[in-house]
Amino acid sequence: MVHPVVLDVDTGVDDACALLLAARHPDLELRAVTCVGGNAAVDQVVANTLTVLDAAGRPDVVVARGAERPLLEEAADARHVHGLDGMGDLDWPRSTRRADPRHAVEVLRDVLLEAALGRADDRVTLVPLAPLTNIALLLRTYPEVARGLRQVVFMGGAVDAGNATASAEFNVFHDPEAAAIVLDACADLDLPVTMYGLDVFYQPRVTREQAQTLIDTGNRGPAELAGRLIAFQCERVGADSATIGDAGAVCAVLEPSGVARRRLPLRVELAGTWSRGRTIVDRRDQATDLSHDPHGQSRVSADVCLEVDGDAYARLWLDTVRPDSVMPDTVEPGTRARDAVDQAQR
Ligand code: RIB
Ligand code: CA
Repeated sequence: MVHPVVLDVDTGVDDACALLLAARHPDLELRAVTCVGGNAAVDQVVANTLTVLDAAGRPDVVVARGAERPLLEEAADARHVHGLDGMGDLDWPRSTRRADPRHAVEVLRDVLLEAALGRADDRVTLVPLAPLTNIALLLRTYPEVARGLRQVVFMGGAVDAGNATASAEFNVFHDPEAAAIVLDACADLDLPVTMYGLDVFYQPRVTREQAQTLIDTGNRGPAELAGRLIAFQCERVGADSATIGDAGAVCAVLEPSGVARRRLPLRVELAGTWSRGRTIVDRRDQATDLSHDPHGQSRVSADVCLEVDGDAYARLWLDTVRPDSVMPDTVEPGTRARDAVDQAQR
């Protein structure tokens, strides 16, 4: 079965790993990529995203520029992690393409409303891998897009330790209000949500040797870029292997059985001196009496990924970025809308 997907990214070394997987896997139909400020400023994110899609051989994929900054906070990038250009300073040839003239929120609306016209298996899986600013704006402005959505699988949050702070994961830390709004909207709109957080994020790993094999394929292709992204991370932290990061959330769409998830009540901490942006996952025994708790139980729940088969996901990623991997069939822009109208008229 082919899964229609849209990625929302802040590319980002590991967003780049995710884009390579989503652009190249034949069981995914990548309908658009939307960009938001996060790891780098949004214009840099757009440039990085176009560059990765070119390397992946997918210049057909629509890319749109979204929010520059969080809803409330000032933007605070993570170039200390991802390099000055946000993508490992690889000196990779830059794309000459431009983003779609529409705002990311308008592209998301258009793609999802088009999906809502089609059959049930045409519904899109939305995969946010970045601060949730665009998605919060989308779901509050155009809640009707829920008809075109199958599920939301987002990288963000953590049950255990954070990374941006001791408590908070970067994507949620960067725009906590947006994350809280998205979870609230998903509860309102009855949309299934999977949280692929830091508890599983670091476990699918690729070694330096594997990265070198990819780099040796050369030709500025997807495999070489994939290898260079992993090598950059190994170099940065002085390790023999590195995570595929956000790509793991895409793996969770492709191979859902590779993660163990539990449906758990979830909140985003919006106050707190040292804990703002933390995801509070309620792992208490819900069968016990919680009536003494003045905060009660969150009305929002998500399928929280607690364990991952890291080797399986790393293998899936490696197999897909290899130069001889089978590419997805591409669909000409506008074809789906025409087909849906034809079908409705029949
Ligand atoms: O916190 C994990 C996140 O940080 C990911 O989305 C990744 O892009 C990294 O910046
Ligand atoms: Ca990201």
